[in-house]
Order: sequence, then structure tokens, then C-alpha cells
Amino acid sequence: MAYAAANMRQKLHASSIPPWPVPFDSAAELDWGNPGYARRLLREHLDQTHDGASRRRTVIAGQMRRLCRLLPATPARILDAGCGPGLYAVPLAALGHSVTGIDVSAAALRHARGLARDAHLRGKVRFVKGDLRDVPLAPDSFDAVLLVYFVLEAFSRTDQPEVLRRLAASLAAGGTLIAELRLRPEQPPGRIDWWDVVPNSLLSDRRHLLLGDAVYDERRHTYVLREIAIHDDGAVAVQQTSGWLCPFGSIPRLFARAGLPDVTMFDGWTGSPAHALSETVLVVARRRRT
Ligand SMILES: C[S@@+](CC[C@H](N)C(=O)[O-])C[C@H]1O[C@@H](n2cnc3c(N)ncnc32)[C@H](O)[C@@H]1O
Repeated sequence: MAYAAANMRQKLHASSIPPWPVPFDSAAELDWGNPGYARRLLREHLDQTHDGASRRRTVIAGQMRRLCRLLPATPARILDAGCGPGLYAVPLAALGHSVTGIDVSAAALRHARGLARDAHLRGKVRFVKGDLRDVPLAPDSFDAVLLVYFVLEAFSRTDQPEVLRRLAASLAAGGTLIAELRLRPEQPPGRIDWWDVVPNSLLSDRRHLLLGDAVYDERRHTYVLREIAIHDDGAVAVQQTSGWLCPFGSIPRLFARAGLPDVTMFDGWTGSPAHALSETVLVVARRRRT
């Protein structure tokens, strides 16, 4: 293994870092469940000065009103897949739904459970640590499944259909899956790079030199964002996150193959139809009624 992904257990030499990042390289890809990373990411989830990891509370409040129009009537059984710190799951439980949140991050789930406790909702919402690729999901156990804030794109082109199929199978007949997708990342096609000296970052709690590069391969609908932290004592950490962005025209097929043939696509969180130039697409897909 050439990399020490974010935890710096091993010494890493610059010569072992590929000059060009390889998307979905298992040796370098971020382990979302890594406790140190998850703890630092939680800070970003909760930061009310940006929408980097989760949206700010005011933005989420607006989206909740839209979600309520798209979700089945209360009380519905809802799975929030990749729920993070429970910023959607807990308000949905407060509205009367019975909510399950699943995420790989123990730190995010601890926060989510605290929110539920503070809101006296312990019997209405539960949080499960698991990977959406293999967490056990009983068939027909939810009326709705949510994938909020581009959770799906973190899975490769081969993993995405399987994750969707598993989630779709957990829906009752006629159930709804709502997934937020991006059609392109924020950067233009090609490669960009940068560096900075920072007091801490998602890679480390210590001051370090942070190098970054990102490649968006428009033809393959793939991006990879790589960060390298170099400390005064020579310790180096590398991590990357990759994404596969389903092309606009292929979205209905992706969902249909997962068992969700009835697909409506909205232009982000608006009620207008999505189009090829939409920044983001909110997919509302229904499982067939038997
Ligand atoms: C961009 S955040 C969105 C969190 C939440 N949906 C929100 O909008 O506040 C992506 C979340 O997906 C989780 N995640 C990433 N890979 C996962 C996997 N394989 N299984 C379960 N959760 C995963 C991360 O831990 C993180 O909490």
C-alpha cells in the first residue's frame, strides 16, 4: 500500500505519490469512516459559515418544506442513506415520520443521536453505522429513501447501480426514492492545483503545508480531488475523493435498472423540470406498485 490515507500511520515518500491522481484508486481513496477524518469532517458539517459538508440550518429548513411535498404523508418509514449528523433525519422525525439514518461516520452518528435525544425523539429515529454497499437492509421496510447532498456520486460507476438496487429493494411497493445528483463538479474540465499553509485541515489537526489537485474528466464523467498534507517533521498524508457523475440522459436508465422505473427529475430543489444544463438534479423515483 503506497499511501497513508489521512491517518499517517506510515511514512510516505513523495516519490510514491503518482503525479496524476487515479479516480477510485483504493489505495488513496478516502475512508469516510476513519475516526480522525470523521471527527474533522463533523466540524465542517456543523459549520454555519459554509455549505461544504452539509448545508447550513437555514438552507436545510427551506429544503425540508420541499421534501415534505415530495415525501409520503406522515407517518412514513423513511431511510436517510448517508445521513451525516442527522440534519434531515431528526427534523423529519419531529414531523411525525419514523426515520432510520445510516452512515459510515461514527462521529456524525453520535451527533445525530444527541440531536434526537435533545428533541425527545429517541423512539422515532434511530441511527445505524454501516456502509451502503453492504449494510443489511430488509426488503419492503421503507416508504421512502433519501440520498441527500450528492451521496451517490461517491460510489464508482460500477457500485452506483448496486447501491441503488439495494436501496430500491428496501422500499415497499409504490415507495419513493429521492436522490440529489450533480451533473458536473464546480471546477471546469481538466486539472487545477493549489497549495496553502494551514493551521489544520480535514487531513490533520496540526499546522501543515496543504497541496491539492483536482482533475475533472468530462468524457468519463469522473472527477478526483486529491490533497497532500506535509508537516514540519516530514510526516505526509494523502487522501482523495472521487466521484462518478451520471450523465443527464442516462439518469432514468440508472434508476430503472435499479427497479425504479417511474422517474421525475427536478431542477435542483425547485419544482421546475431538470434539463441538461441544470447544476443539480433532484430525482424522485418510484418503485412499481405490485
Ligand atoms: C456530503 S455528506 C451528506 C450528509 C447528509 N446527507 C447531509 O446532507 O447533511 C455525505 C455523507 O455520506 C457518508 N458516506 C460516504 N460514504 C458512505 C458509505 N459508503 N456508506 C454510508 N455512508 C457514506 C459520509 O460519511 C457523509 O456523512
